[in-house]
Amino acid sequence: MGRLLMVSNRLPVTVHRRRGQLQFEPSTGGLATGLSSFYRSYNALWIGWPGIDRKEGMAIKDDIQQKLLTENCYPVFLSQKEVDEYYGKFCSTTIWPLFHYFPQYASYSESSWQAYERANRTFCDAIVEVWEQGDTIWVHDFHLMLLPQMLRDRLPDPTIGFFLHIPFPSIELFRLLPWRTALMNGMLGADLIGFHTWEYAGHFLASARFLLGYDSWMGKITAGDRLSRVDAFPMGIDYERFAETATKPEVDKEVEKLNRSFRDRRVILSVDRLDYTKGILRRLEAFGLFLDRNPQYRERLTFVLVVVPSRTMVSRYALLKRQIDEMVGAINGKHGTIGWTPIWYIYRSIPFQSLVALYRRAEVALITPVRDGMNLVAKEYLASRVDDNGVLILSETAGAAKELGEALTINVNNDDDIVTALQDALEMSDAEQAERLRIMQRRLRRYNVQRWAEDFIHTLLDTHKLQEEMGVRILGAQARRKLVKTYQQAQRRLLLLDYDGTLVSFASRPSRAIPPQEVLDLLYSLGSEPANEVVLTSGRDRGSLDGWFSELPINLVAEHGVWLKPRGRNEWEMIEPLTAEWKEEVRPILEVYADRTPGSFVEEKDFSLVWQYRRSDSRLGELRARELVAHLEGLTTNLNLQVLEGSKVVEVKNAGVNKGRAALKWLSEGNYDFVLAVGDDWTDEDTFNAIPEAQWSIKIGLSSTGAKYNISSHSKVLALLHELQTHEE
Ligand code: UDP
Ligand code: G6P
Repeated sequence: MGRLLMVSNRLPVTVHRRRGQLQFEPSTGGLATGLSSFYRSYNALWIGWPGIDRKEGMAIKDDIQQKLLTENCYPVFLSQKEVDEYYGKFCSTTIWPLFHYFPQYASYSESSWQAYERANRTFCDAIVEVWEQGDTIWVHDFHLMLLPQMLRDRLPDPTIGFFLHIPFPSIELFRLLPWRTALMNGMLGADLIGFHTWEYAGHFLASARFLLGYDSWMGKITAGDRLSRVDAFPMGIDYERFAETATKPEVDKEVEKLNRSFRDRRVILSVDRLDYTKGILRRLEAFGLFLDRNPQYRERLTFVLVVVPSRTMVSRYALLKRQIDEMVGAINGKHGTIGWTPIWYIYRSIPFQSLVALYRRAEVALITPVRDGMNLVAKEYLASRVDDNGVLILSETAGAAKELGEALTINVNNDDDIVTALQDALEMSDAEQAERLRIMQRRLRRYNVQRWAEDFIHTLLDTHKLQEEMGVRILGAQARRKLVKTYQQAQRRLLLLDYDGTLVSFASRPSRAIPPQEVLDLLYSLGSEPANEVVLTSGRDRGSLDGWFSELPINLVAEHGVWLKPRGRNEWEMIEPLTAEWKEEVRPILEVYADRTPGSFVEEKDFSLVWQYRRSDSRLGELRARELVAHLEGLTTNLNLQVLEGSKVVEVKNAGVNKGRAALKWLSEGNYDFVLAVGDDWTDEDTFNAIPEAQWSIKIGLSSTGAKYNISSHSKVLALLHELQTHEE
């Protein structure tokens, strides 16, 4: 593999200019801190915004660039105006609140969206400048959701991963965004899209299905001709760095210093960026309540509240800062004594070693975000507990809670929950603390940030292989040319064409899928060619097919092979004598499912019954379909019936009758030197299996099949059929 190009809005170092001097400081926030140690150990270049205004930066561009390059960083300069609009507005007041379930704080402005697009393009330009064949691009976070597709449009066959460090919300929130489709398409430009939890990945897949109509299977999703993968990768930390630092003599000294201040008081600790998603006010409220209810702990504990300044240019953050100041003042005023301040409030960034010393000194970590993509502080606290004790209290709405089952989990909106958890934590036996800690530490040590990143990159490269395998199955230009040539040279040709989903796209009601004139003309000209035998193999009833196609010089197959109507005849013939008495028993069952599933209905044909759920909520539809199939299983074997699951349908019909068997009627009668079968769902698999190995079969969509080739959409089938004709003239 070539280089790894990591791309994020913020570089791991932020450049400041103070009193004419350039200063490089570590950036705050989980993305920067979490990935810093990993990328140094890789052949990686980190591309991002250095935090300094373009005008100021460009004047000393070379100095900055040179210094950053020694850190394997490459700057993307943005003007103050761009930063205000793209980062200050769209990222911080549209995406951030909405994705963290604060829709009431979200604003929607067309001009800031345009700034977001422009900034993504600026990043794209910078990457195109440094990208070399063989490099892998890994784009991070919500600031750059359009970037994967932009890169794909500009670079020749790049490998692109995308990771979202914040939650991906439920569709009910995501759909509120006016630019939702553009953002989805932007992300889908990546080969692999990663989230912290499977829940976020599920929300993303649901949005893709609902907003773009893209179905997925086992986390694989196809957008047009391209397959992308979606998966969960819970981000880890540099565990050893924390564990080792915690035992350093310098940290021992800092802990001793803290001991002198706190004496034998118990210490409760929280560390957050200043952010309304972190639940700081709720936490303070609950702490006040805890003191009210537990006078025995007065003067016997200290709550150390570390708040790291963040996004200070956004007014809501400035307001929150004032509210925290006031609440800390009120609690300290109410409960404090001459010698005791209940809350130690630190509003600044603290150096790494001091942070680890605090983690080590605190008996309890109280981490209560209202919503958090992951929360690395919780993990860092656990890694720093080298003395086998310490209790983590964690909101169930932090991504980290999915992995840290041995923490005391709380609902942040329930004060009682937090108060009880604090009491439990302070009273927990050493043995229980050690046991819980051991299990969580083992997991964090194993799945550290290195493993996390390697897992992601490995899956990304693997996805590329999967796409290549898939690419072989796609009817590409070469195979297509060969198909057309074979067609032209053949003396006798058989074309077995499915209708719905193959010649026309699906309609919400079967009766609405009326054939357009283009399809009728195409079938007419193909059928009129003397060397051709065209068979339309449909699951539809005889009436519909007669109504649409009886004037055409083609053969018709209805109800998945029950009825045949050879070209030029007026009557339908049955493939074998069948009965339909079983319908009386099966119909009531399907009707119950139609009643229980809004949007679904029962369609009746001569020898089959179909439960259709294309217009239902797709997750409910799939669930019910599975139930229905299980329900029908016992009944249908007794009655010699078969149950077929097609595209958004469950069909019950007589066993042994299928499209493949119908196809055999023509295959056995004619001496064909060219056979082409095209279909889209698994009722067409019988046709694919029936035709000789050396002949041509094409499945619409990129799912697995017995057909020789896949093609991405029905419109490409029409183009292919036209091409056969054009070449003939
Ligand atoms: N952190 C920091 N400066 C500090 C205190 C903490 O950079 O003064 C780090 C902390 O160690 C952690 C990160 O900030 O790695 C916060 O990440 P988290 O995932 O908890 O929240 P985020 O800020 O990403 O929302
Ligand atoms: C979260 C985001 C990061 C961001 C960080 C700090 O962790 O996921 O992308 O960098 O917060 O926020 P800031 O606005 O200072 O970059």
